[in-house]
Amino acid sequence: MVDQRELRVNRMTWEADGVVSVQLARIESDDPLPAWEPGAHIDIHVPDGTTRQYSLCGDPRDLSSWQIAVLREPAGRGGSAYVHDQLRVGDRLLVTRPKNNFALEPATYHSLIAGGVGITPMMSMAEQLAREGRPFQLTYGGRTLASMAFRSRLATLGARVTFLAEDQDGRPDLDTLVKDLPDGGLVYVCGPVGLLRAVQSAAERVHGVDQDVVRFELFSRTGVEPARAAALDADHYELVLARSGHTLRLSPETNVLDVVLALGIDVENDCREGICGSCITPVRSGTVDHRDLVLTKKERAAMDRMLICVSRPTCPRLELEL
Ligand code: FES
Repeated sequence: MVDQRELRVNRMTWEADGVVSVQLARIESDDPLPAWEPGAHIDIHVPDGTTRQYSLCGDPRDLSSWQIAVLREPAGRGGSAYVHDQLRVGDRLLVTRPKNNFALEPATYHSLIAGGVGITPMMSMAEQLAREGRPFQLTYGGRTLASMAFRSRLATLGARVTFLAEDQDGRPDLDTLVKDLPDGGLVYVCGPVGLLRAVQSAAERVHGVDQDVVRFELFSRTGVEPARAAALDADHYELVLARSGHTLRLSPETNVLDVVLALGIDVENDCREGICGSCITPVRSGTVDHRDLVLTKKERAAMDRMLICVSRPTCPRLELEL
């Protein structure tokens, strides 16, 4: 069952060219909103019946309201156009409880890299690291200074934030950023797919292909290669749902989430693209072709969980904790 609530738009603010922030609060109640940590996002229901995911970018200590920021994306699916063109102060939005697939992990140092509106989760992360006195650097790139939201808020963090407007300063030197990462440090990146790929490539050049120093978040699969073919060279495999007592014979490409839902088993799901993390399911035994964009390299290698909306078996028998 999805935990969701209706909230009121309390304030909308232009933060940069094409970027508006939206503050959401409870309707007729002073009860605190559910707590969240930097990196969390909420899903917003838009009028076409689908949902969009937006990072929370306010102060997690303030439980009276949540804040998101939305970039107008002409090539998007319509969520940003709805927010920019139709949503107004006083309107109500149905939103889910915050989820976090991008939480700050313990590290000796955090190198945060944000591109464009990818600054939204990074800003709360940077502020939290600053409050806790932990070492970090935030590199924030955008097309132009005018397109970069929250610059005055971020300026309060001083020299720990580097602003790079591409038309004046060029692009960030990712190799240097990754090379300068101290032992035990992690790189967090949020922004366009091209930036994410470039950071991962830089990390592999510097730290080797088995590196596990990059954490990222995407809200769209646009620009991401389609899922790979299943590595299981067989017509069928056996799917065992241990708790509910089902054993099924399925083609390796069958969507596991669809099968499970059709059996009446309640599994949370939102994006169905392997990016929101809601359908994560413990694996009791078996191996998986991980096609999601949520799990880290270490989590993939552990083979103890999978995103059943996109990932597929690579073994003749897969047993899930369902
Ligand atoms: S439903 Fe979003 S990751 Fe599976």
